Amino acid sequence: MANGKVKLCIFYLAVCGLFLCIFLSPIYSSEYSEGKIFQEKCFRCHDLKRVFQLRKRPRQWQITVQRMKSKAPDWISGKDIEKISLFLTTNYGIDSKELFNDLCLTCHQRVGKEKMLYEIKTKSGWSRAIERMRHKYPFLIGVDDAVQISEYWTNPSNNKNLKLKITKRDKLEEVFENKCTKCHTIGFLKTKKIKPEDRDRILKRMRSKSPELINDQELKKIDQYLQ
Ligand code: HEC
Ligand code: HEC
Ligand code: HEC
Repeated sequence: MANGKVKLCIFYLAVCGLFLCIFLSPIYSSEYSEGKIFQEKCFRCHDLKRVFQLRKRPRQWQITVQRMKSKAPDWISGKDIEKISLFLTTNYGIDSKELFNDLCLTCHQRVGKEKMLYEIKTKSGWSRAIERMRHKYPFLIGVDDAVQISEYWTNPSNNKNLKLKITKRDKLEEVFENKCTKCHTIGFLKTKKIKPEDRDRILKRMRSKSPELINDQELKKIDQYLQ
């Protein structure tokens, strides 16, 4: 009987241990190390309260961190900038709705073109309009901002008033984004212009890097999308 109790006790301890491991594992993940670098590097001249109160877009965080580096170039390295910016964007970023209000709605209200924002009915129409705005105001709207807004805006649950049509092009785009973002950022993919004569060669080379990821049919769709 006593033996049985000991066994039960060991069993419970093992279960608790397992839960503890699962619970603590995020702390040992890369995000933790990014957080640690942030604390170590950014706590030197001021407390971190001023950071915790802020919410910024990816680009704005990058500018802040860059500016802080210029105050202490030997203390903060280029690699630190990347990691700290990522940590800040993930934990103290602006959410998609705020971003849309901040970037798009404010300006459209100011120029009296609020209605224009709600007139487009297709997903690809939205992507195109946002891309066009980004080209027009590159100093205001970054690639990451455009992608985040586009994703937010074209998600039906965020935007119940719009009956978005999913076009053939949207489907092709989905394959392109799902597959190619396994190794590249969306910013790279949307800004890198592939010349028509290089497309076939580059796509085949990309597939050869991870043949099990992209099948023939998918490669054909990506090719069509990029045409
Ligand atoms: C060499 C000292 C120093 C280091 C290191 C430093 N800061 Fe600062 N920071 C300052 C000073 C001085 C100010 C106030 C003047 C200013 O804003 O330029 C400031 C202001 C700020 C502000 C408020 C202004 C804004 O742009 O929002 C934030 C946020 C901030 N720091 C974040 C950081 C982060 C994140 C890091 C780590 C990458 C960092 N700081 C590292 C000196 C430093
Ligand atoms: C600096 C102000 C400004 C910002 C920021 C801005 N817009 Fe615009 N937008 C305009 C103006 C002015 C027009 C009308 C002239 C034109 O079409 O270029 C317009 C036109 C549009 C149109 C209708 C024309 C079309 O291309 O179909 C849409 C849709 C649109 N904007 C969406 C957006 C979205 C989404 C954002 C946020 C990513 C945004 N805009 C950010 C000023 C702005
Ligand atoms: C398994 C990882 C991986 C996948 C998946 C991948 N790429 Fe790449 N890509 C790379 C690497 C690594 C390089 C740099 C070396 C090179 O050019 O071969 C690269 C380079 C590129 C370049 C620059 C090449 C040049 O010659 O200028 C483009 C454009 C590109 N990729 C587009 C894509 C597209 C589009 C997809 C989706 C079909 C894709 N990649 C999928 C890993 C990948």
